[in-house]
Amino acid sequence: LAKVEVDLASIPEGKNVTVKWRGKPVFIRHRTSDEIKEAESVNVQSLRDPQADADRVKKPEWLVMLGVCTHLGCVPIGEAGDFGGWYCPCHGSHYDISGRIRKGPAPLNLEVPEYSFNEDKLVIG
Ligand code: FES
Repeated sequence: LAKVEVDLASIPEGKNVTVKWRGKPVFIRHRTSDEIKEAESVNVQSLRDPQADADRVKKPEWLVMLGVCTHLGCVPIGEAGDFGGWYCPCHGSHYDISGRIRKGPAPLNLEVPEYSFNEDKLVIG
């Protein structure tokens, strides 16, 4: 199946990039150390879809997930919403800096696709 390669050196810290994979947007964020701390400090049991940040990333500085809202499939907006992550304007779902659902109608966290690292490249798929 098709894989997509992304050159990570082209994504500065604190920036989002969106790539297409199998017809879907994939969000890649180069997280800052403050963002990583925040993502790791959340009380997992308080979450609607309880998942530790460490179970959503392979390297803490790189967050990779499908840009498809788990409510009805709209594409959330980055650097928006009440939790410092993504906001879906269709019906008001707020995702945090780990892509976890925090407020609004979406039932689940943004999905993490299969991916791996190959030197300074990210390989999705
Ligand atoms: Fe995102 Fe409904 S599709 S909140």
